[in-house]
Amino acid sequence: MSDDPGTLEQALAGLPEAAARASALRLQGGTASLVLDATGLDARHRAALEAQVRAALLAAPGVGEVRIALTAEKVERTIVAIGSGKGGVGKSTIAANLAVALARAGRRIGLVDADIYGPSQPRIMGNYERPELADKQIVPVEAWGVRMLSIGQLVEAGSALAWRGPMAASALGQLVEGDWGDAEMLVVDLPPGTGDIQLSLIQKWKPAGAVIVSTPQDLALIDATRAIDLFRKMDVPLLGLIENMSGYA
Ligand SMILES: Nc1ncnc2c1ncn2[C@@H]1O[C@H](COP(=O)(O)OP(=O)(O)O)[C@@H](O)[C@H]1O
Ligand SMILES: [Mg+2]
Repeated sequence: MSDDPGTLEQALAGLPEAAARASALRLQGGTASLVLDATGLDARHRAALEAQVRAALLAAPGVGEVRIALTAEKVERTIVAIGSGKGGVGKSTIAANLAVALARAGRRIGLVDADIYGPSQPRIMGNYERPELADKQIVPVEAWGVRMLSIGQLVEAGSALAWRGPMAASALGQLVEGDWGDAEMLVVDLPPGTGDIQLSLIQKWKPAGAVIVSTPQDLALIDATRAIDLFRKMDVPLLGLIENMSGYA
């Protein structure tokens, strides 16, 4: 048997994406092996690409077995946190609108509803689908051109209310480390205040910046200052303070 890797290259010629991502093609004793770079692909695309490559190679002359090593570079993602001192100031509304606006401007955006105790993104984004699990990662759902994950999709409404810090932080991890595919930025809608969720987000996933939302009332502004102090102390740059609902008395 000739064991010529050229056979494999030919077999992949009809699959431009696979050909571009394949390297280290080898054919030895009827076993074809290669490395497939799956950087930026989500679980579904990864599986589809792998199946295509396997089928194409098995159809090539002299190939009886196919071994595929999948690799992926870790995608560097920018995280932008949307925080506030108080609840009800419009954080979630702004996070959703910011995410959709960025997506419309051509960016690949994920929206994380980290308000474990009062998730509202499924409602705002109008998507109550239950996300699937792939390779132990949660796969975001889509709405308005944005990928989205919310604790509200995972547990019954209100059932997270009794969670203590560690459980809430672990839920946050599942969301932030979901299967975001090639998303370049995650907009994180935080719960109000300066609690466990804010701290674990800052410590583990260091946002590139934070946007603080407040209303013009004195009390809301005092609480906003506390949120600003937290991000400042932890070296998260403040991207801006949004005064929302300023037209309301
Ligand atoms: N600029 C605005 N004008 C009118 N209503 C708003 C505005 N921003 C937010 N709201 C409303 O205020 C309520 C609280 O907003 P939400 O985004 O859920 O706040 P938070 O996430 O800070 O708790 C929602 O009913 C929302 O529709
Ligand atoms: Mg909210």
